Amino acid sequence: MPVQNGLVGPFPEGADPEEHDKLRRRILWKMPSGLYVVGSTDRGDRRNGMTLNWATQLGFDPKLLGIGVEQEAFTHELITIGGVFSLNLLDREDRAIVRKFTKPVEVDLGAKTLNGFPFHDGRTGAPVLDQAVAYLDCEVRQSVDTGGHTLFIGEIVDCGFQKDEETPVLRMEDTRMNYGG
Ligand SMILES: Cc1cc2nc3c(=O)[nH]c(=O)nc-3n(C[C@H](O)[C@H](O)[C@H](O)COP(=O)(O)O)c2cc1C
Repeated sequence: MPVQNGLVGPFPEGADPEEHDKLRRRILWKMPSGLYVVGSTDRGDRRNGMTLNWATQLGFDPKLLGIGVEQEAFTHELITIGGVFSLNLLDREDRAIVRKFTKPVEVDLGAKTLNGFPFHDGRTGAPVLDQAVAYLDCEVRQSVDTGGHTLFIGEIVDCGFQKDEETPVLRMEDTRMNYGG
């Protein structure tokens, strides 16, 4: 990938790399996205929860869900070992929770809490937050290196609503946060 002034290209002919980089980031940040917590486990005693917005459905048959995970993240290590993950859809009223899941969490397997938030193990063993509006429980079918991140493509093997289906869920735009760009 062409890099100019430390900025990742490509850049259109004659474009100023700095200006183009800023424009590209503003457009990437304008893409609407949900804001979730990804649950992961090594299928032993280790669990983690991580705030994530790079998530999308990728297939009808099989039912596939894709998430983009930083290769440095503890979550990446656990998904690589355990081969499973959960996507937790959050109540829009719970927006404060996402700041609690931006680094490896305190796990209490006895009390079944992640940073103090109650969880239970999903069918795959991946943790599901008890307060999530809904969850998708997945087994990894493919992992694609995307340079610094990995696209984990999981098949949905279980799912459920835990709150009223009409409950508004959290989106990036409900926060002042950004990721990517
Ligand atoms: C609003 C927001 C969105 C994020 N989205 C992603 C994402 O889509 N993918 C990702 O790998 N990390 C994302 N992160 C960073 C992770 O939450 C976390 O900081 C980092 O990956 C380390 O996670 P770990 O606890 O698994 O080590 C996001 C952080 C914030 C605050």
